[in-house]
Amino acid sequence: MIYLRNKVKGFILTKQTIIYLCSCNNNRIFFMLNIIIFGAPGSGKGTQGENLTKRYNLTHISTGEVLRNKIAKQTELGKLADKYMSQGQLVPDNVVIDILDKFFADNPDSEGYIFDGFPRTLRQGEAMDEMLGKQNESINVVLWLDVDDDELVSRLLNRGKKEGRDDDTLETIKSRLQVYNRKTEPLKEFYSKQGKLVQIDGMGTVDEIFSRIENVVDNLNS
Ligand code: AP5
Repeated sequence: MIYLRNKVKGFILTKQTIIYLCSCNNNRIFFMLNIIIFGAPGSGKGTQGENLTKRYNLTHISTGEVLRNKIAKQTELGKLADKYMSQGQLVPDNVVIDILDKFFADNPDSEGYIFDGFPRTLRQGEAMDEMLGKQNESINVVLWLDVDDDELVSRLLNRGKKEGRDDDTLETIKSRLQVYNRKTEPLKEFYSKQGKLVQIDGMGTVDEIFSRIENVVDNLNS
């Protein structure tokens, strides 16, 4: 019998079930799967993040999505974030770290997390480790979706035409890619040194890519 957080969930039936991080809390054993879905703008973090959420019953956070909601509601934070996002720049670390902090507070009984678009700087990565550490948790794996630059631009321009997302214009896409290369790519080394970075070929159909991801996640710890 396993306990997921403080709830009794059932018997271990599949190999997948036992890959989750095991820790002890209040004399109970619980297992969690904490995944970062990592990659450049347009690499498929949101798309595959949704697939992972459904497949492994995780709680998904996309900091970009949270910020877009705040912009839509015209909150003070939204107005601040809009200034950065419309230029393809990162929103200040303290703002997104506070968003993550609130996310943890709002989801205390989660069976695992999928982080999409966070962390994007080394400071965010360190803050996340600290926040997870306070819950006796840690990241299990960082899935880096590796996609050619031409394909990234084409996907984002395509979405810009269909959905009209404000930052999906050629100029802003170029700026987002530059910011990714300069500020976010260094996280690859950060997680590689921890032995958590796994490169996924992010070219192909959504289903092809998801089956590569499943293959990695299902074989964690094996
Ligand atoms: P965010 O919303 O995270 O945007 P992003 O990283 O630029 O990523 P995208 O949503 O554009 O792409 P994705 O990798 O999720 O791919 P998706 O699945 O959507 O952040 C937006 C902004 O918010 C940032 O620029 C920053 O200003 C701010 N921000 C957010 N987090 C922050 C943080 N932590 N710190 C500071 N600032 C932060 O796919 C893209 C398109 O391609 C879709 O149309 C999809 O349908 C399509 N697609 C997906 N997979 C495939 C495939 N295999 N083949 C063909 N098309 C595909």
